[in-house]
Amino acid sequence: MILNACKEFDYRRYPDNLAGLAVRAISRFLGVEESMVYVGNGLDGVMNTLFRTYLRRGSKVLIVEPTFGMYSYFTNLYGGELKTVLLNPDFNLNVEQIIEQSKDEISLVIVCSPNNPTGNQFPRDDLKRILEIDALVVLDEAYVQFADYSMIDDVWNYENLAVMRTFSKVFGLAGIRCGYLVSNPEVIEYMNRATPPFHVNQLTQLIVKKALSMWSYFEEKVKEVIEERERLRKALAGLDGIKVYPSKTNFILVKIVKEGVTPRILKKKLMERKILIRDVSDKPLLSDCIRITVGKPEHNELLVSALEKCLES
Ligand SMILES: Cc1ncc(COP(=O)(O)O)c(C=O)c1O
Repeated sequence: MILNACKEFDYRRYPDNLAGLAVRAISRFLGVEESMVYVGNGLDGVMNTLFRTYLRRGSKVLIVEPTFGMYSYFTNLYGGELKTVLLNPDFNLNVEQIIEQSKDEISLVIVCSPNNPTGNQFPRDDLKRILEIDALVVLDEAYVQFADYSMIDDVWNYENLAVMRTFSKVFGLAGIRCGYLVSNPEVIEYMNRATPPFHVNQLTQLIVKKALSMWSYFEEKVKEVIEERERLRKALAGLDGIKVYPSKTNFILVKIVKEGVTPRILKKKLMERKILIRDVSDKPLLSDCIRITVGKPEHNELLVSALEKCLES
């Protein structure tokens, strides 16, 4: 795929402006108008433009916690004011609180669906209620292919809905830096106006086009990851000293419930065995929690036996 894209790549020419080649490929893939798609340098690049377009000093951004850290990063970067609503103890949305908090004038509401790092997907009806808020509601669907449903088709029904996705996760193309946002043409027009020329390189755009044309291959990979995720969850649930949460992503949230073992200690012990996990215990509601990415079956087996030994000692 990458080599084929390289063959077509003419490095002497400037890229299609406003990532036109990738916009055309994505709009065809999704069956939406080209005027409804914005493509950026990774989803972080898309968010950078989104926040720069929508925030003035003091503009309010509503997020839930715990969630992906870049929403607060970009809010701070552009001088916005963060309003956070804690998830319920079962990691579901506190919709009443969110609606209450939105009575202030809000510029953006950002919800990660499914949520990183808790790994769950919020009920669609809760998201629909949040869409009644008078603000642009942005759903981050970075992991949606591993989950139960997407709201990308709802951009036709809700003028204030924007859905973001990335090629970093399901396609395994984090290095090419490409993400996109789908919304009504007015949102895309504002974001395009805030974008410098040639912001996404042409090789990335060609790879995106090739990757989308091979979707059935990636779809099979998604099925394999989901099966492996459930196998890994079962194996982890069999270990003493941890609690395993359900997941609709390609990672699993785990709480350590063994006295004397902390995420920091466990991370260090696993590092000694060349296994890397993410310590997320500094986030609200996630004390004693770690995040484990689903790997290949042989890697997951190594992880489970290493974890078992680390929890014993
Ligand atoms: C929820 C979520 N959104 C966005 C991103 C950023 O994606 P990208 O690599 O396209 O910048 C990540 C990456 O970890 C993520 O977890």
